Amino acid sequence: MNNTEEKIILLRKTIEEHNYQYYILDTPIISDHEYDTLFRELETLELKSPNLITAESPTQRVGAKPLEYFDTIKHRTPMLSLANAMSAEDLIAFDIRIKKALKTKNNIDYIAEPKLDGIGVELIYERGNFSEGCTRGDGIRGENITQNLKTISSLPLRLRGSSFPILLEVRGEVFISKKDFLDLNKNQDQNGLPQFANPRNAAAGSLRQLDPLITATRPLSIFCYEAGAVEGKNFKNHIEFLSTIKKLGLPVNPFIQQTTGSKELIEYQNKMELKRDGLPYEIDGTVYKINDYKTREVLGRRSRSPRWAIAGKFKAQQAVTTVENINIQVGRTGALTPVAKLESVPIGGVTVTNASLHNQDEINRKDIRIGDTVIIERAGDVIPKIIRVKLENRPQGSRKFIIDLHCPECHHKTSKNKNEVVSYCLNYNCPAQIKGRIEHFVSKNALGIEGLGKKIIDTLVNKKIIKKIDDIFSIHEDQLSKLDGFGNKLAGNIVKSIENSKKTSFTKFIYALGIRNVGEHTAQVLENIFEGDIIKFQNSKVEELELIDEIGPIVSKSIKQFWNDENNTTIVNNCFDKGVYFENKIITFNHKVTGKIFVFTGSLKKMSRQEASSIIKTLGGFVSSSISKKTNFLIAGNKNGSKISKAKNLNIPILTENDFLDKIKSLN
Ligand code: IVH
Repeated sequence: MNNTEEKIILLRKTIEEHNYQYYILDTPIISDHEYDTLFRELETLELKSPNLITAESPTQRVGAKPLEYFDTIKHRTPMLSLANAMSAEDLIAFDIRIKKALKTKNNIDYIAEPKLDGIGVELIYERGNFSEGCTRGDGIRGENITQNLKTISSLPLRLRGSSFPILLEVRGEVFISKKDFLDLNKNQDQNGLPQFANPRNAAAGSLRQLDPLITATRPLSIFCYEAGAVEGKNFKNHIEFLSTIKKLGLPVNPFIQQTTGSKELIEYQNKMELKRDGLPYEIDGTVYKINDYKTREVLGRRSRSPRWAIAGKFKAQQAVTTVENINIQVGRTGALTPVAKLESVPIGGVTVTNASLHNQDEINRKDIRIGDTVIIERAGDVIPKIIRVKLENRPQGSRKFIIDLHCPECHHKTSKNKNEVVSYCLNYNCPAQIKGRIEHFVSKNALGIEGLGKKIIDTLVNKKIIKKIDDIFSIHEDQLSKLDGFGNKLAGNIVKSIENSKKTSFTKFIYALGIRNVGEHTAQVLENIFEGDIIKFQNSKVEELELIDEIGPIVSKSIKQFWNDENNTTIVNNCFDKGVYFENKIITFNHKVTGKIFVFTGSLKKMSRQEASSIIKTLGGFVSSSISKKTNFLIAGNKNGSKISKAKNLNIPILTENDFLDKIKSLN
């Protein structure tokens, strides 16, 4: 070993030790500046001797290239979920069930843990090195998110010490703390990016980034709480497992404790419920697990959850506030939605100011009136809803709230179908609907016209510069530059962006039209079926549409209704007259998956059909359940069956599982 190598190894060890002090023991012994100096020193040495860089070096947390899609990993032991206990009675019943199954009257030893509200993951350490990590997925297979997990600073790339199992699979929860979440959203806002609804969504979105450089900018944390497969060491019980992994440098939640008998389960449940708001991260309950591993084995599992553990759910968080007003929002389809404007009130760290009242039936059922004092709850702890009115606080003279029969935006008549609860504004030219349709038309996954935000659209519609979708393509630069707050530059950029959007695809355009029940996926299916020919699509009959795999009677009816309306055909024709065109996809047969239709038969050995389908879809292909003239490939898990003979008759290439995998690999 030369001098540089020795220095590098020592620096890595020192940095790992400081990570342990900081993240696991929570008692840093050097300043951030001293830590940064060590880190830079290591980076400089590695830069000079790149042959000495190892995957576990602390400098290698980010650096991997963006992926095209996530591979999947089969869990060595399934990742189960947990049954729920909704009350103290449920916890007592759980304890009784266990004692009965074990034929014992003795108190049972449990480990009580907070139930962290994040994303469950599995970390795999081989000979002490972090080798792979994945999401829970369907419990059998998860997505390989190794390079994203490596960006989490508190996750050790190498276990501490030298006495670790040859294989150690550890399960844990990746999350974003409450404070980091607020900072992240502030940052998103400053960069004009959308807000995350809650810390869990932010963590999930961050872990599912194909580019680890983006994940590295997200403040992810992790706590480990369960063993997967372990080789080379036998743990007797859960507490031994937890204390060992903590010594090995993995983060373990400090509120985990041993409890005995159902009384202590309930005490822990009440204690954590009180602690919940004051914790720096979100928890949505508790988990109680039998401590002894042999006893766990005796009890076994149901299909999706173990018999030896249960999640103690918390009551939904509630607050009391008043209804200041009830506003009616008009969506792009004309649907009227009543929304209660509430006096702002915090619930579990989130400030609530609005709650949807859904429709007149819901208002009637709860008899919600302006001025009422109401109890609100965050359902699933995210979307606020009004639970009930505190009638004792109702102000005198209040009146039942009835949604006006006229649209609040254009005063046109509204109507409600017999079997529906939602009323619709019937005026196709209602400014609220126009605004909604245009916002959708220009949105990112539709035509993706940059710069045309909600505010600008409001102004353009209010000033009657835009009345229908296709008017966008007639906007002049000087019309924009004359408006308040617009300079020549902004106006020029928007016009350029509008011009660029004319080159689009069938899928994007059809999605952009906002046909009811036609989302991006359906638009893609339609492109495939009608081979990008909009006239063919426009002239298709309901019966024809219904025959398409994945399109049912409801979608077919919406499509037909759309084309039967002359307003729509005119707008579509105008768009083409004004220069919209579909870019032709160049597909090299046999080499690209994009645009191709695959059908499966028989079972696959190396992956599930679901996984193979998701790969195909990620690459822009389609999966159909039956063979037709349009099928491009049949992937055959076995060599018999009617699909095979049908494919042969139609001259459709038949791929083995390996052929398919080679085809995918050749694309990388
Ligand atoms: S143990 C069989 N412990 O809750 C054991 N899970 O509903 C299952 N979770 O998918 C996991 N905190 O993502 C366990 N302390 C904890 C947990 C926890 C959060 C999540 C985990 C799991 C889900 C089960």
